[in-house]
Amino acid sequence: MENMEAIEVLNLTKKFNGFTAVDNISFSVHAGEIFAFLGPNGAGKTTTIKMLTTLLNQTKGSIRINGLDPQKQQDQVRRSFGIVFQDPSLDDELTAFENLEFHGVLYQVPQEKRRERIKELLQLVELWDRKHSLVKTFSGGMKRRLEIARGLLHHPQIFFLDEPTLGLDPQTRNRMWNYLQNLNKKENITIFFTTHYMEEAERIAQRVAIIDYGKIISLGKPDELIKETGKNSLEEAFLVLTGHAVRQEEAESIDQMRLHRRMWRRH
Ligand SMILES: Nc1ncnc2c1ncn2[C@@H]1O[C@H](COP(=O)(O)OP(=O)(O)OP(=O)(O)O)[C@@H](O)[C@H]1O
Ligand SMILES: [Mg+2]
Repeated sequence: MENMEAIEVLNLTKKFNGFTAVDNISFSVHAGEIFAFLGPNGAGKTTTIKMLTTLLNQTKGSIRINGLDPQKQQDQVRRSFGIVFQDPSLDDELTAFENLEFHGVLYQVPQEKRRERIKELLQLVELWDRKHSLVKTFSGGMKRRLEIARGLLHHPQIFFLDEPTLGLDPQTRNRMWNYLQNLNKKENITIFFTTHYMEEAERIAQRVAIIDYGKIISLGKPDELIKETGKNSLEEAFLVLTGHAVRQEEAESIDQMRLHRRMWRRH
């Protein structure tokens, strides 16, 4: 069991009705590592995370989470990780405390420990003062912080975060990464995250994988990718490697332009 990788992926493929969203990817993430999974919109990041976290079955290939198979050992695998989804998933009509309490009950965290852990985490994400406020009164940043606290409640060994900082201001993003880096050090938790902010990945991740059109086109330490491409930042290296726009907004406006062009052509 020693030196076991936290995540091991071999020849993983996902097809949706003949469309290949994830195309024969292989990689592993070491226990205790902070690993970034980067790629343009539609590259296959969320699809991969869903397969790693038992939410989607793969078409081909194998996955091991702490040595366990997410398809065959679903419950054990689910207990071993926490997740922050790309789309918000809190209950707006409950308070911050109730959202965490509910999650703790689902994960069978014993009542005594649950209360303690909720307090510790709400303090960590600086929401303890707002524990009895309804989530619908929270700002985007507060909701994101609460989702992080929730994901950590059952002491996961691996934490998946799918664009955890999207739409947050730079200060909030910084603070969030500070908590996560502290947790990584304190609890040796493995962190697997996606982001469209390349400077964030460059600063936080020990290694990054770049996925494009379902394939991993690059994997290594940020420094290595920067050197390899002869650039000065991961953002520039990413552009060279993918030839794509990085930001969601940019990608969206390009999509819109394409759509408009297509509509014009038709008239
Ligand atoms: N349930 C599904 N059915 C059909 N196609 C899907 C499904 N889920 C995802 N796809 C397609 O698979 C591809 C990869 O999607 P995915 O959500 O994994 O991308 P992503 O890298 O997370 O992108 P983003 O940065 O926009 O979140 C896209 O073309 C998407 O349309
Ligand atoms: Mg996604």
